[in-house]
Amino acid sequence: MKLLLVYGTTEGQTHKVARFVAGHLAHRGHQTRIVSAIEATAAANPREFDAVVIAASVHTGRYQSAIIHFVRKHLAAINARPNAFLSISLSAASNDENDARGLDRCVADFTQRTGWIPQHTHHVAGAFRYRSYGLLKRWAMRYIARRKGVSTDTSRDHELTDWPELARFADLLAGEAERAPRNRPG
Ligand SMILES: Cc1cc2nc3c(=O)[nH]c(=O)nc-3n(C[C@H](O)[C@H](O)[C@H](O)COP(=O)(O)O)c2cc1C
Repeated sequence: MKLLLVYGTTEGQTHKVARFVAGHLAHRGHQTRIVSAIEATAAANPREFDAVVIAASVHTGRYQSAIIHFVRKHLAAINARPNAFLSISLSAASNDENDARGLDRCVADFTQRTGWIPQHTHHVAGAFRYRSYGLLKRWAMRYIARRKGVSTDTSRDHELTDWPELARFADLLAGEAERAPRNRPG
């Protein structure tokens, strides 16, 4: 199975998530191409792949605009093959109903902007990447971390991503793509 994984990242965690999914699937004999939405070129044409995964992270309720552009541009081809959206956020690590509702709103806004209703939307807990933040961002994120009961030690990053769970999701998607009929121009 040939999978295209296009990601948008601001501090790097979504890139790490994309690399993990690709590595996991490669281990199982699949071919995965990872492309940053910012650098997406002709080499990232969904028509040449069996399945497409779009991964992006939430920053103040929005996903990266490069991802929105990519999805809009390739909507027909994405819809024509097995597809999934990986949404990376800190709310995904929360048990608070308000956080879950907030994520639903982010995805609804994304759908409205792109016209894409993913076959699967999977919420992935991201990270506090204190070391990549500037002073203000670090201060704001430390404040959020304190309220959420996460470490406020800004000398290192704090990852909340559940890697085994992500691996299970990747397996599910690969299984589905393998079973889906080929020959889908889009
Ligand atoms: C400035 C800023 C704003 C953020 N806004 C949200 C938000 O609205 N909702 C949320 O759940 N997470 C939010 N996050 C958390 C990010 O989604 C999380 O840190 C994620 O791992 C970032 O992924 P990236 O490194 O690929 O950009 C925010 C993070 C930062 C730094």
